[in-house]
Amino acid sequence: MAAVTERFQQLFVVWIVLSITSSVAVDRNNFKTCSQSSFCKRQRNVKPGSSPYRALLNSLELTEKNIKVQLINEVNKVPLLLEIYGLEGNMTRIKITELNPLKPRYEVPDVLIQDPPTLPLAVTGRDDNSIELALSQTDHRLIITSKPFRLDIMAGNELVLSVNSRGLLVFEHLRQRKDTFSDKISSTVGSMWDRIKSLFSSESKQENSESEAEKPEDGNSEQLDAAEKVDEAEPEKNEKDEDTENGMWEETFKTHRDSKPNGPTSISLDFSLPGFENVYGIPEHADNLKLKTTDNGDPYRLYNLDVFQYELYNPMSLYGAVPLMLAHNAQRTLGIFWLNSAETWVDISSNTAGKTVFGKMLDYVQGSKEAPQTDVRWISESGIIDVFILLGPKSTNVFHQYASLTGTQALPPLFTIGYHQCRWNYNDQEDVRNVDAGLDDHDIPCDVIWLDIEHTDGKRYFTWDPNKFPKPQDMLQELEAKKRKMVTIVDPHIKVDSGYKIYNEIRSHDLYTKSKDGNDYEGWCWPGNAGYPDFTNPEMRSLWAKMFAYDQYEGSRENLYTWNDMNEPSVFNGPEVTMHKDVVHNGGWENRDVHNLYGYYVQMATAEGQVLRSGGKERPFVLTRAFFAGSQRYGAVWTGDNAAEWDHLKISIPMCLSLGLAGISFCGADVGGFFKTPSTELLVRWYQMGAYHPFFRAHAHLDTPRREPWLFGEENTKLIRSVVRERYALLPFWYTLFYNAYRTGVPVMRPLWVEFPADVTTFAIDNEFMLGNALLVHPVAEEGSRGVTAYLPGTGEVWYDVRSFQKYIAPQQLYIPVTMSSVPVFQRGGTIIPRKNRVRRSSSCMINDPYTLYVALSSQNTADGELYEDDGHSFNFQTKKEYIHRKFTFINNILTSSNADNSSHFTTKAWLEKVVVMGAQKPSKVHIQMKDGSTSEVEYEFDAATSILTLRKPAVNIASDWTILLR
Ligand SMILES: *[C@@H]1O[C@H](CO)[C@@H](O)[C@H](O)[C@H]1NC(C)=O
Ligand SMILES: *[C@@H]1O[C@H](CO)[C@@H](O)[C@H](O)[C@H]1NC(C)=O
Repeated sequence: MAAVTERFQQLFVVWIVLSITSSVAVDRNNFKTCSQSSFCKRQRNVKPGSSPYRALLNSLELTEKNIKVQLINEVNKVPLLLEIYGLEGNMTRIKITELNPLKPRYEVPDVLIQDPPTLPLAVTGRDDNSIELALSQTDHRLIITSKPFRLDIMAGNELVLSVNSRGLLVFEHLRQRKDTFSDKISSTVGSMWDRIKSLFSSESKQENSESEAEKPEDGNSEQLDAAEKVDEAEPEKNEKDEDTENGMWEETFKTHRDSKPNGPTSISLDFSLPGFENVYGIPEHADNLKLKTTDNGDPYRLYNLDVFQYELYNPMSLYGAVPLMLAHNAQRTLGIFWLNSAETWVDISSNTAGKTVFGKMLDYVQGSKEAPQTDVRWISESGIIDVFILLGPKSTNVFHQYASLTGTQALPPLFTIGYHQCRWNYNDQEDVRNVDAGLDDHDIPCDVIWLDIEHTDGKRYFTWDPNKFPKPQDMLQELEAKKRKMVTIVDPHIKVDSGYKIYNEIRSHDLYTKSKDGNDYEGWCWPGNAGYPDFTNPEMRSLWAKMFAYDQYEGSRENLYTWNDMNEPSVFNGPEVTMHKDVVHNGGWENRDVHNLYGYYVQMATAEGQVLRSGGKERPFVLTRAFFAGSQRYGAVWTGDNAAEWDHLKISIPMCLSLGLAGISFCGADVGGFFKTPSTELLVRWYQMGAYHPFFRAHAHLDTPRREPWLFGEENTKLIRSVVRERYALLPFWYTLFYNAYRTGVPVMRPLWVEFPADVTTFAIDNEFMLGNALLVHPVAEEGSRGVTAYLPGTGEVWYDVRSFQKYIAPQQLYIPVTMSSVPVFQRGGTIIPRKNRVRRSSSCMINDPYTLYVALSSQNTADGELYEDDGHSFNFQTKKEYIHRKFTFINNILTSSNADNSSHFTTKAWLEKVVVMGAQKPSKVHIQMKDGSTSEVEYEFDAATSILTLRKPAVNIASDWTILLR
């Protein structure tokens, strides 16, 4: 019987997979539009206008940490509590929730790295309708206007941001479902009209009341539907129909019914940004870097989903969600961080027509009526309003501010920024051995070989197929001998199988998520019927972490790392291919509340497992598909199941840039494209793109022909080899960028505007990008391209082509003729980049190799740069400060290497082999002077045609202090 069931399950999965893989593109019908998501529809039907909310200024209470003010909805009388926090570092936190909720509402835990330090607030002004607060030591002030309720944040006399200025604060309070079904049957049209009338009459009645003692009316008074009901109510309909129609107590999508035991709980708030025309962030969407207005379509959606063959340039949700938006203009960058893990929609409009009419007390704001303005509205299905305003003023301030809340990018082990060779699947140990040998035979460096789901014993994670991978330890040891690593996939759906240890263990601890009837929730995924562990439960995470111990994960070794896929979570037979919203998690919270956190917790638990297995010594590496704010602390993300198409190649830039702006620097797209088969030209161009993305992995679908980089003829092997080797030569630069991302939250891969904030030409550019402050990359992403036009920004700055060393004056639109070997990359004048030009089999083979410094002089003949180095794998850089952090400065013809961090200590055998100075003049002599005063002459060559000065063998240890003098 069991065997029959198993067989059936396998067939079912095969059927699902076939039916999924046979369609050509995303089936949009599988995914909700705003109007199919009842709360989004209800909320979006509320139009801007006068807000029913009034701030009860007399209720103001100033505490040590915040101020509290009650808000009253004058239609339904439900009171809310507003809390405002002035946070250290130019941030303001605004929380709004019900004053007296029927039961607690969900507040996102585990994402903020600490309780953000607060600064005392002070009331600095007050009149009948407003209160002014000083926000911090700087000149920021916040004005609370009572009626209609709004908040305005001012910097000096400049209005920076307004809250609820369009009156879109909507808070669906928790309520009892008043009537039983039979009551409803008998409810009459007349009684409904009575209710509606009473709603409206109560509005006028309450106009002048400021009493806190007002009791909310019964739960059936829906502020936001009141107006609509007048228009839409049809006499035949009873109340139940209406609730159903509005999706308040249940809704269906396709064949799926969402029971809503808590009824409607959605929230919404609007923000106006005078002076801003450009907004960015809120990954993950397959769209341009600069976000579009959503007036004529759906809002951008944030709801982690496994979207099969996603379409480009639209606001549909994808695998991950970071509810952080950045706004930028030539004067200022600011951020809005909406801390909510429920399904969320973000509307953006930018216009002058629907512009806010400023309150009379703000009329003096100069020029505001003429300024462009962006209006943003956030809508979430449940939880509370908890929003952080990051006031910049510079983009680097915003990155620090966001990092101070959610943490920075974990410093990855060095090997993870090398090249990764993956496909679904490397079939067996022999296949792995051949791929490993093929990389060496063709002189293509690589650090990691990956195994997808077929390596397991019947999709039971933490196991190996006994026939294909009988001796995983031997395989891992062979890789170790080559200084290579392996990654295996470990997904969060656990095969329901009483003979499977992992399944039983989680069950015995009763740690699966529950369906609404209280049984373990089960859904279909790769293994057939599967349970979904409740990763929101710390006990589950700790159990999961222990499963990575070497004696638990049989066949694992130190050089085995992990890939978490399908962790949105993907449920093939669930609504929108994910978990039902009424699934119950730890603490009784619904998936509705925690949905966007699931994948975040999976990666967190996996990373903790890797740390645990090494006794806390080794840095983990975990790649995840689903993510949330803070995921940067646990590893890398990739852009999911893309396709071998030119547009997918192009969109990998804005997708990773948006992630980087939202704190997640370690991003890449499947090189070659996951679905479909790339032309050889596309594959080569994709390697040229991927080599300049933070995470660099080739991957391919099971159904596609093999595409290891040496299978396309010697000429193409050479092209791919050359760009992979270029990646390895630049590893010291990449590693230093990652260290800075870890330290400060500044992204590794950056939009041009981050480096050139006042250059409006850069604001919408997403076909080129910066690595750090130093390299500008404009990959070729058009089929049959003969040339590209790169924009070189920076008034009065200079750029050097990294191959020809040709110098260009900025700003300019530079046409660059290209061949298949061209990857247009420019080093910015004024920067110094460390490289290791002796490329070897893997990054660990290069650890002691010598460095070359590339000094690109600015128009003022200056430059500076940095180098970070450590053991590449342990936490000693944190616990023992074992690292080298050098600062290089070129000024007045003197190149100096000094310690950027005197508290660090680490020794290396690596020495300085060469210095290349771009834009140099011919010196008559070159000396190097050591710390002890000793000097020696340095050999050099000068190429007058290119102005390149090459200093040979300064031969000093890279960690030492020295000065090179050009005379
Ligand atoms: C706060 O803003 C002021 C300008 O208003 C700026 O000078 C300062 O650097 C900012 N501080 C932080 C920590 O972002
Ligand atoms: C490190 O110490 C030296 C003197 O020993 C000093 O000149 C230098 O400024 C210090 N560097 C930093 C970054 O503190």
